[in-house]
Amino acid sequence: MRLVVKGKLFTARGLIDGSILVEEGRIKKVVKGDPRWPVDEILDYGGRRGNVILPGLVDAHVHMRDLDLSYKEDFYTGTRSAAAGGFTIVADMPNTRPRTNTPRALKEKENLARNKALVDYCLYYGVPSEREHLTEDVQKLAVGIKVYMQDEFYSERRSLVENTLGYAAEKKLLVVSHAEDPAFFVHGPAGTLRTAEAEVSAIKDISGRAKDLNFRLHITHLSSKAGLEELLKQKRGVNLTVDTCPHYLLLSAEDVRMQRGIAKAHPSIKGRVDAKALLIAARNGGIDAITSDHAPHTVEEKSGDMEGALGGFPGLETTLPLLLTLVNKGILELGDVVRLCSTNPSKILGIRNAGEIGEGKMGNLTIVDLHRKFKIEPQKFESKAKFSPFAGREVEGKAVATVVRGIPVMVDGEIVGPRGWGMNAKTYG
Ligand code: NCD
Ligand code: ZN
Ligand code: ZN
Repeated sequence: MRLVVKGKLFTARGLIDGSILVEEGRIKKVVKGDPRWPVDEILDYGGRRGNVILPGLVDAHVHMRDLDLSYKEDFYTGTRSAAAGGFTIVADMPNTRPRTNTPRALKEKENLARNKALVDYCLYYGVPSEREHLTEDVQKLAVGIKVYMQDEFYSERRSLVENTLGYAAEKKLLVVSHAEDPAFFVHGPAGTLRTAEAEVSAIKDISGRAKDLNFRLHITHLSSKAGLEELLKQKRGVNLTVDTCPHYLLLSAEDVRMQRGIAKAHPSIKGRVDAKALLIAARNGGIDAITSDHAPHTVEEKSGDMEGALGGFPGLETTLPLLLTLVNKGILELGDVVRLCSTNPSKILGIRNAGEIGEGKMGNLTIVDLHRKFKIEPQKFESKAKFSPFAGREVEGKAVATVVRGIPVMVDGEIVGPRGWGMNAKTYG
């Protein structure tokens, strides 16, 4: 299969009007102008104002659910949602049922994903309950190890966590941490308040261990200004990266009060001051990446009071439009979005030949229309979870095509790629 994509290309050397030839899944040529290559398929965005061809977007934190939680989402619907939102690779978290923390569960998930996914994927491994479960399969299939510091697991079974972190250091496996220390949660009548102090304490704890044990650490879904300040302090002494999510940049406690359970997330959405500090850091490099934390549930699971509702909401179909809206407002540059959602997440996850348009790289592309205006309507989501705290928002900017290893999987909002096309991006050569 030979695919040509034409138009304004976002390359490391800047924007050029040109053509990309993708052959056997890889970018063969990137040239200026419009050469006449004999090809099987052409996506032509040349001369169209507002269309830009970006390196394929990568989301380093999603929940595809599946298995016993497939009523919330599965690898097919979750990756359709990714394709619709412009994401070419999604990294799936291990808090599934069963948990992805045995070699058997990991292999089972790999099979499932390989048969169902439409876009490429990475898999995280959870802290196992037995040392013997840190096997070669983990190095082969998992992109990293996820540590949920708020779990009882973390405080009660410190030696297991210690073992796992040591293993990650030895095998040079990335450690991704949900950094919240439950000792600093405040339980009140309006539900549990997940404070900024909880984030600060956990960041101190896990960065200290990264220093001692020498593993590569990434802190995910940072939510507070105090957490950011602590993190920037820690960054000086250790090779540490961090992401945040659109809801921590664009929503505040006010929105949560109005939307109640729908806008509940872990960590909880903080104040305006926090959002502002995170947005500035996203622009100036203090924040390395943006993830969606796509966390589907049923509407029933999101209703009820704040204490009863589950945390999280789908984000794969809102992340890029929300960020491109910031670009249109002059708050971010398009280059920031590419760095935060493609180049850096590819580097953080250690995915080879991704995150860049260049000869020899994977043929993963996200074509955007910077000026497509629309209203966020969750009932139109590809995800099974048809709700969002951003419902009703007017946004400007959208993915109009998603290409995974040379195969268009979404074009003009239609899912056109085959189920099972996705592969584990850890195995990219
Ligand atoms: C996530 C989930 O639902 O799995 N929920 C959330 O509120 N973010 C878990 C998590 O990312 O901590
Ligand atoms: Zn989390
Ligand atoms: Zn999550």
